[in-house]
Amino acid sequence: MNNITPFSFGIRKKDRNKLNGHESFVIWFTGLSGSGKSTLANALEEKLFSIGVKTYLLDGDNIRVGINKNLKFTAADREENLRRIAEIAKLFIDAGTVVLAAFITPYKKNRLLIEKIVAPQNFIEIYVNTSLEECERRDCKGLYEKARKGEIKNFTGISDPYEEPENPNLNIDTAKETTEESVERILNFIQNKLESKTNE
Ligand SMILES: Nc1ncnc2c1ncn2[C@@H]1O[C@H](COP(=O)(O)OP(=O)(O)OP(=O)(O)O)[C@@H](O)[C@H]1O
Ligand SMILES: [Mg+2]
Repeated sequence: MNNITPFSFGIRKKDRNKLNGHESFVIWFTGLSGSGKSTLANALEEKLFSIGVKTYLLDGDNIRVGINKNLKFTAADREENLRRIAEIAKLFIDAGTVVLAAFITPYKKNRLLIEKIVAPQNFIEIYVNTSLEECERRDCKGLYEKARKGEIKNFTGISDPYEEPENPNLNIDTAKETTEESVERILNFIQNKLESKTNE
């Protein structure tokens, strides 16, 4: 049809997982700006790294200054931003790496697309469910203040919706537990999955 036929390579995900001694999948952190996604992903990666798990962290702002620097925050650009990130995550998963992805990911439709791209068995959704009030109080990057003044368009929680996940694998309110407690909960949750031999 379009003259493209993907090659089927001899070394597969399961071979890389065997070599690394653990499974690979993506842990996707979704939540408002300032909810704690990057902080949690960073702390979790340090923990996983220290126990010998191969990891890679994909984070909103870092991706937006690089591969996705041509994209803005309209609904269409947010979707393309996330589609590319999901495809990147899929490559890393295939390469045997546990991916930690920290993106606001406000629309349900986009989260479903990501799950479809990486395959449901490779997708763990963590809802960093810190209230808008708390995120705005923190205002780590000064963005809420700008958004309230109308200086930023399409700002999630202020001038653009955040559609709450209905069935996340974990729900974390960073105003109610410490980063260490949250990391511990995530580790407990992924323990079986890291060791599983079924998600090939
Ligand atoms: N228990 C906690 N877990 C995580 N972060 C916390 C916690 N308590 C306080 N914080 C603070 O909340 C802030 C969260 O900022 P962070 O950059 O991680 O948010 P984010 O969700 O990645 O935002 P953005 O979408 O803008 O990148 C940090 O300043 C962090 O220190
Ligand atoms: Mg962040």
